[in-house]
Amino acid sequence: MSAPLLTINDVSVRYKLPGGGSLTAVNQVSIDVAESRVVGLVGESGCGKSTLARAVCGLEPVSGGEIHFKGAPVRKLGMRRRPEELMRIQMVFQNPYASLNPRRTVGSQIADGLRANPASTSWSVAGLLEEVELPSEVQNRFPHQFSGGQRQRIAIARAIASGPELLIGDEPIASLDASLQARVAGLMRKLALEAGASLLFISHDLAVVRIIADEVAVMNKGKIVEHGTSQQVWDDPQEAYTQRLLAAIPAVDGLGTLPGGEKI
Ligand SMILES: Nc1ncnc2c1ncn2[C@@H]1O[C@H](COP(=O)(O)OP(=O)(O)OP(=O)(O)O)[C@@H](O)[C@H]1O
Ligand SMILES: [Mg+2]
Repeated sequence: MSAPLLTINDVSVRYKLPGGGSLTAVNQVSIDVAESRVVGLVGESGCGKSTLARAVCGLEPVSGGEIHFKGAPVRKLGMRRRPEELMRIQMVFQNPYASLNPRRTVGSQIADGLRANPASTSWSVAGLLEEVELPSEVQNRFPHQFSGGQRQRIAIARAIASGPELLIGDEPIASLDASLQARVAGLMRKLALEAGASLLFISHDLAVVRIIADEVAVMNKGKIVEHGTSQQVWDDPQEAYTQRLLAAIPAVDGLGTLPGGEKI
């Protein structure tokens, strides 16, 4: 078997706090993402999901452990251009304005992605828009001229255009209506796999994650507390923390409980 696409080995990330002291946001995490695999990362607000994603992209230095992407170590980026191999990791954020430039047409931004993709012979701007279920005429519009769900789909098209081998979604559906969340999440899975990429899908919504992910890692206070196939984690959670996350999912009868005061 070939080595996993991404290996995160015993990684810790520590933030220095103003006035001294530090906060360990990610604490000795180990997790691999294999090729053509969808891995969900779930956990409550503040547990360290975004910090881990930022470290994988080279945006945050690790204070311990190692991250390898395609066998090469990922290091914190300096002010230099992003190294070529890290261009193969693309991130879609909760707020699509963080992935899109508000001052440029969506077509030109998708075209930039295509130019960055050495193997992009088959994609076109119109073709990618069609993939995310938007008509090609919209390519001359600016990001603010779309709905939130459409904008997020454009951000996904932009990320796919540059030919990622690893697509990371950091709460990419959190800003969308409930009715749209599963659809956009499903679209991300489909496009990533069609493009031959893996997907690391971060969300605090285990109900959506289990639909699209092959495996799920559960994070709590900087640590991965449970990791298994989506079915295992959903049907037979081993950890009390995972059981609590599952119990917090509203049931279809509308009587489900929500954790008191916690961010949903
Ligand atoms: N730049 C920073 N400096 C100091 N502490 C930080 C910084 N960024 C995040 N933290 C802290 O690190 C911890 C993990 O934050 P992180 O953003 O990774 O959580 P998260 O799981 O993505 O949460 P959410 O679901 O709300 O997005 C939190 O306690 C947060 O306050
Ligand atoms: Mg986050």
